[in-house]
Amino acid sequence: MPSLKPVSRALVVSNDAAWLEPALSGLASASARLDNPFGIAFVSAHTGDHAMQTVKADGDLQLVVIDKSLAGLGAGQAALDLANRINSWRPELSLYVVLSDDERAMVEELVSHAVDGYFDRDEPDYHGWFRILSAELAEKSATPFYDALQAYVKMAKDSWHSPGHSGGDSLKNSPWVSDFYEFVGENLLRADLSVSVPMLDSLLHPTGVIATAQNLAATAFGARKTYLATNGTSTTNKIIFQTLLAPGDKLLLDRNCHKSVHHGVILSDARPIYLDSSVCREFGIFGPVPKATIYRAIKENPDAKALILTCCTYDGMLYDLKPIVEAAHKAGIKVIIDEAWYAFARFHPAFRPTALECGADYVTQSIHKTLTSFSQASMVHVNDPEFDEHLFRENFNMYASTSPQYALIASLDVGRKQAMMEGYKLLDRTLKLGAELRQKINSTGVFRVLDIGDLLPDEVRNDGVRLDPTKLTVDISKSGYSADEMEQVLFDKYNIQGEKSTFSTLTLLLGVGTTRSKVSRLCDAMFRLAKDRRRVPKQSYRMAEVPHFSWLACLPRSAFYESGECLYLLDDDGRPNEALTGRVCCDQVLAYPPGIPVLVPGQVITPPITSYLAKLLKGNKPVEVHGLADIDGEYAVRVLTQEELEAAPSRSLFLQDDEKAGDGDRQQPQKVQQLEQLPVPSADSVTEEVHD
Ligand SMILES: Cc1ncc(COP(=O)(O)O)c(C=O)c1O
Repeated sequence: MPSLKPVSRALVVSNDAAWLEPALSGLASASARLDNPFGIAFVSAHTGDHAMQTVKADGDLQLVVIDKSLAGLGAGQAALDLANRINSWRPELSLYVVLSDDERAMVEELVSHAVDGYFDRDEPDYHGWFRILSAELAEKSATPFYDALQAYVKMAKDSWHSPGHSGGDSLKNSPWVSDFYEFVGENLLRADLSVSVPMLDSLLHPTGVIATAQNLAATAFGARKTYLATNGTSTTNKIIFQTLLAPGDKLLLDRNCHKSVHHGVILSDARPIYLDSSVCREFGIFGPVPKATIYRAIKENPDAKALILTCCTYDGMLYDLKPIVEAAHKAGIKVIIDEAWYAFARFHPAFRPTALECGADYVTQSIHKTLTSFSQASMVHVNDPEFDEHLFRENFNMYASTSPQYALIASLDVGRKQAMMEGYKLLDRTLKLGAELRQKINSTGVFRVLDIGDLLPDEVRNDGVRLDPTKLTVDISKSGYSADEMEQVLFDKYNIQGEKSTFSTLTLLLGVGTTRSKVSRLCDAMFRLAKDRRRVPKQSYRMAEVPHFSWLACLPRSAFYESGECLYLLDDDGRPNEALTGRVCCDQVLAYPPGIPVLVPGQVITPPITSYLAKLLKGNKPVEVHGLADIDGEYAVRVLTQEELEAAPSRSLFLQDDEKAGDGDRQQPQKVQQLEQLPVPSADSVTEEVHD
């Protein structure tokens, strides 16, 4: 493959033609004479507005040089104003200001804003300026870990260390497994190294190339500190909990958070306060937690230590985060945002503000999900002014493998570099392709891309929720195909694999790797499927409502680590087992779809919960249920024995709370007795509704 050389444009802004002309020609001749690995070429603008047009339109723009003579608000102020405007639109651009030496005071002010450096107007050393601009790009586009990894592989050292395949030497001449060598390629195997190579630094104690890579990532994403992680956001969520939460500390969390968050509750022994997310039942899609619910939870739990929300949600719904973060901070609550699906947002204004820009203290991002890194490659960004670095490191190291996969770390370096150097351009293209795809799918008259108005549950309509336009939820209900059939036919006949589906929608994710030809193939498939539409069956499904959270009898950790006993979900007559009523669950029980935990460890089981699970498992649509035990081929729920419940160390916490609240019998053992006598509602009354 031919090597592609980058093109980098540098914009020089001045309304002083007498200064601008020699500056442009001096810089152009320096770029021709000197080494120019980034392909820097100079263009000009005469006004701030003209400069902004270029900043918005030119995806190859990397540098802006602003002359202080820019007309406008008085000497230098127009330059400062423009620097701020550019910075808030594209923070990744490098900004330089041209001043006279006696304007140092203003420089200080500028530098503290958005500016990376300045040039002296009285000393027009264009050769020197060019060298500085080129060095700036070298610094920004550096991939210190990836470079060191490549350099090490090129040195061709003999391996007398792990991993056992020894750079692929165990594979390459084997009649049995050399195909694996061919399949993954020599470089990946040679680069699969271990901590025995000191020049590659240590992920668990970075002081060299990994530390530098982390600093570059922090600058790129706008964090005080960034950590590279090779175990996915599933792990980084847990690391943050263990750093912030002592046993029994309150955590406010969306009940629909990713399961790693629920696992983190068990591991940290936190006391969860679940917030119900909104739900669009028509399409089976969960939305954000209503602002009113969050504010109420903050008010009722001022002693909470942290709040965690998912932004954007899997389906692309974005909170209006700033006021939420402010309300939490006012109460002294730290804010953690799971941005697993929104890592690219910093690099195009259409997606901002990011969670960090809204003031979040901790942000976890699966760089691998939406940018260019290998699966499991994630980052944690920290902006907490009270960050306990030592504690975080201890927790990070508790979860990290001592043999991290180096290709993942290199891919984080590369993913960050790409986002920084061409994220704006690629995302701009993605947005255009997304708009085109949306228009074409809608023009079939059969399929329809849902917009925010369709997806927003009523309870969050006035919450300022936005939709990420790179996540397309397509309503397929008029096609006569079920979602499963549609996914299958797209896969078998049109070679297309989507992200996920509900009973009436299909979700397609666009990203920096979306190409025009993929868009054409998808449109072609949708047009053909629209033509082949079937008679729409009379029945349409609405999502079964997940039963409301009942209450906790003890902390999730106390229940999870007990042996418990297993009770069948169904009785001998195939009805929901009444013996489960009032018992305390030991596991997290969760059905896909919708993916919200029906039960968490420590939660009291009620008749609607048993009926819901029974109906799901007996229904004719396949659902995956996690967390149930299998006893002789029958589903069972692991519950605490009465002795275990009474001995649970956190039990008193809940009994005390009840007494304080004055509804003492709600979580008392007597209530458990009473619940056992409650009638079990019929399965049909609580689960999936079918409409004619
Ligand atoms: C909201 C959310 N958070 C965290 C994760 C886990 O991320 P990872 O796959 O990087 O472990 C996921 C995975 O799907 C997710 O949807």
